[in-house]
Formats: sequence, C-alpha cells, structure tokens
Amino acid sequence: MNLDQEKLIAAKEAVKYVKNGMTVGLGTGSTAAHMVNELGELVKNGLEIVGVPSSESTKKLATEKGIPLTTLEKANSIDVYIDGADEFDPYMQLIKGGGGALLREKILTYNSELVIIIADSQKEVKRLGDFKLPVETIPFATKKIEQSLQKMGLQPKLRVKNDENFVTDEGNYILDLNIKHITNIPALESRLNQIPGIVETGLFLDMADMIIIGKGENAITLKK
Ligand code: A5P
Repeated sequence: MNLDQEKLIAAKEAVKYVKNGMTVGLGTGSTAAHMVNELGELVKNGLEIVGVPSSESTKKLATEKGIPLTTLEKANSIDVYIDGADEFDPYMQLIKGGGGALLREKILTYNSELVIIIADSQKEVKRLGDFKLPVETIPFATKKIEQSLQKMGLQPKLRVKNDENFVTDEGNYILDLNIKHITNIPALESRLNQIPGIVETGLFLDMADMIIIGKGENAITLKK
C-alpha cells in the first residue's frame, strides 16, 4: 500500500463527518487535497456545505472542485476542520506547517468545533521532532529571531523556495527548527511564543479532537 493511498483512505473516512449545512474548514497539503477532492465529489452529488480554506492553494483547488467558499470573517462558526499533519505522537500532539500554511491553519483549528487530522501511517512518531518545526516570523524581525533561536540550540534554517525566501500567504517567512533534543515541548512552545516577531509555531498541542490514520487498507481513528 503506498502512502498516497493511505492519505486517500484517511480523507474518505474524514468526510463522513461532514453533513448537510455545515461550514467546513479546509486544510492544506497533499492529504488535505484528497479531502477537498472528496468533498468536491459529494458537493456535485448534492451535499450542501460552505468551505473556509486555510491557504490560497486550497482556495484554488476548492474553487476548481466547485465547493462554495466563504471567509473566516463571514462564517458564523466552523463546524469541522479537516487537515493533514507532518507528525503526530501517541498523545495526539502535532507538528504542522511543512507546506507553510501553519498560521491560517492554526487560526482555523482554534476556531472550529471539531478538528479532524488525517494522515498516512508514516506520520506517526513516538516523540515529536524528526520533522523540523516550522515557525512563522515577520520579515522585519527574522534575522534577530534566527540569532536568538541559534543561541537556544535550535539550529534555525530560513526556508527558501526557488532560490528566494519562502513567503507565506500572510507575507511572512518560515524558520525550520531542530527540536529533536527537546523533551519539554509545551515549555518550548511558551518560550517561542514569547519572542517578538514569531507569529506562530507549527506545534499544535491539544488541538486535535480526532486523528484518522490510513494504515494499509484500513482507516484507524484516534479520539481525544
Ligand atoms: C501545511 O502547512 C501543513 O501543515 C500540512 O498540513 C502538512 O504539512 C501535511 O502535509 P501533507 O499532507 O502534504 O503531508
């Protein structure tokens, strides 16, 4: 079974939680793209929903698939948010932001009634930190933040794409950090949040209500 199949299996299971009349937060990334495709099919077959996309790329895909969209500002509430993750541990803690959409993703996660994470089986880890932790920084402060994080032993690397600094949908930069040696992740999250100019981190702690994992032919669901 390949990983893309597992992503599809997880996405198909997740969309079962979407019901007529719901406002649905749409995540970003290759796993979330399967979910958007699946919702597009359901909409074609009569499902009535409105989506709130977490990125410009998801907005484009959802539009192509015929999913009616609104903005977070206009949506009264978000009934369910479905998104991928870069890593999750047995306590349902996550690293997200590999695709660079972590800020809007975290805002939608925080503002949703039900948060469903979908993942292939390779995303499961015993301890967070094999994946480099993305943090979103405002350009004005990024050099100074980089120096502070270097002193903290987090080996920050400015994310680059096509030889240019990667710029997020909100016009910010991303620093990817090595947190493999960190044992107290919540304490790290607090420290990072205290540094002026760090807009958000890719640590999604205690935010997922459910993780649906595609494993071989099956979908396995973890609940809070
Ligand atoms: C996007 O910013 C990320 O948070 C994605 O949700 C995460 O990187 C998972 O992406 P894939 O589904 O492509 O692995």
